[in-house]
Amino acid sequence: MKELKVGLLGIGTVGGGTYAVLTRNQSDIARRLGGNIRIVQVADRNLALATQVTGGQVPVTDDAFAVVNNPEVDVVVELIGGYTIAKELVLKAIANGKHVVTANKALLAVHGNEIFKAAAEKGVVVAYEAAVAGGIPIIKALREGLSANKIEWVAGIINGTTNFILTEMREKGLAFADVLGEAQRLGYAEADPTFDVEGIDAAHKLTIMASIAFGMPMQFDKAYTEGITKLTSKDIKYAEELGYRVKLLGITKKTEAGVELRVHPTLIPEKRLIANVNGAMNAVVVKGDAVGPTLYYGAGAGAEPTASAVVADLVDIARAHGTQAEQRVAYLGVQLDQQQTLPVLPVSEVASAYYLRMRVLDKPGVLAEVTRILGDATISIDAMMQKEPQDGESEADIVILTHVTIEKNMDAAIAAIEVLSAIDGKVTKIRMEELGK
Ligand code: HSE
Repeated sequence: MKELKVGLLGIGTVGGGTYAVLTRNQSDIARRLGGNIRIVQVADRNLALATQVTGGQVPVTDDAFAVVNNPEVDVVVELIGGYTIAKELVLKAIANGKHVVTANKALLAVHGNEIFKAAAEKGVVVAYEAAVAGGIPIIKALREGLSANKIEWVAGIINGTTNFILTEMREKGLAFADVLGEAQRLGYAEADPTFDVEGIDAAHKLTIMASIAFGMPMQFDKAYTEGITKLTSKDIKYAEELGYRVKLLGITKKTEAGVELRVHPTLIPEKRLIANVNGAMNAVVVKGDAVGPTLYYGAGAGAEPTASAVVADLVDIARAHGTQAEQRVAYLGVQLDQQQTLPVLPVSEVASAYYLRMRVLDKPGVLAEVTRILGDATISIDAMMQKEPQDGESEADIVILTHVTIEKNMDAAIAAIEVLSAIDGKVTKIRMEELGK
């Protein structure tokens, strides 16, 4: 095999990790591959940083288009992020007949259909293992390891920042805002944490997994996204008393009515392995009809974990370089002309079990009124817990776990409960998933 020549766009955290892993493990990679992978040019706005990271061993430039247009480069590794310049660079690299490796989940979730179409027309590879769950080889598992299966559902903790925050809230009983501040100080959370805490980053990753799992185009605009900003440590504590952990899950399921594509806080039974994934770690459960549930766990971010995925993509591309497109794994698991645009269900049509918490006046008959409303809506109660008023309070917390019902049915019942005179304020609703079968 001749040498694969790489142009690196961005030598920040992941770019630096990629340079370090490729350099350190060069001989192991070469033994596996029967050839070499060599970075021949690096672009970064910070030339001093680029020179420092590469030790002056590689030509550096602050013009990313110089790399994309460099005839020596076989593969462009895009680690810039964002939708605008990154999209231009990726499309230009493809137009120039170069393969692309990207860690950019936002770009693929939003513009992936266009990018993969362009890549197919030019016969180049676009690889993106690092875009979902960092170092966990979940794309390879879904797309190749599980290719014998009909995928039934995928559920994952695919954002480390929010998992860190939820873990701290549970372990220390702290409020969301306090933990967010700590996460920012520790460098887990960005200065603008919106994409993480509002579930958008997770929805990007989920969109990509759903596309592979169900052989459909990216449909990020149809994803339901609810973050963790309104979660209270009280609900996390009550859930725990009932045997559940609260996680920000990305869930995609194929049902007869359509595909569910949703990110939201979710109660999971604590006996599930994924319920015990703590700190900034990621994990994904994939249920295939033949294999059953399978679990993938590891670091979802960070320099070398993410570089591990980037370099593995480079190894795959080195093997695929010079082959015909039909000899390669399809970008999204199925051939592009075989994709089916399955309808994505609005969240109001999703079937789920629910955790409900309400503050009620502690007087006779209140519970009867609440359960009558649920009964009239044919919503079956699975468990119930009442927390007595604390000293000086006249209101109690009632927590109800329901069996599965359609969300719009649940919302109608909640609206009826909220107008009862004995109910104070809004009912807190958190969806629940068994993730068992
Ligand atoms: N910000 C992401 C996370 C990592 O917290 O998991 C990159 O997708």
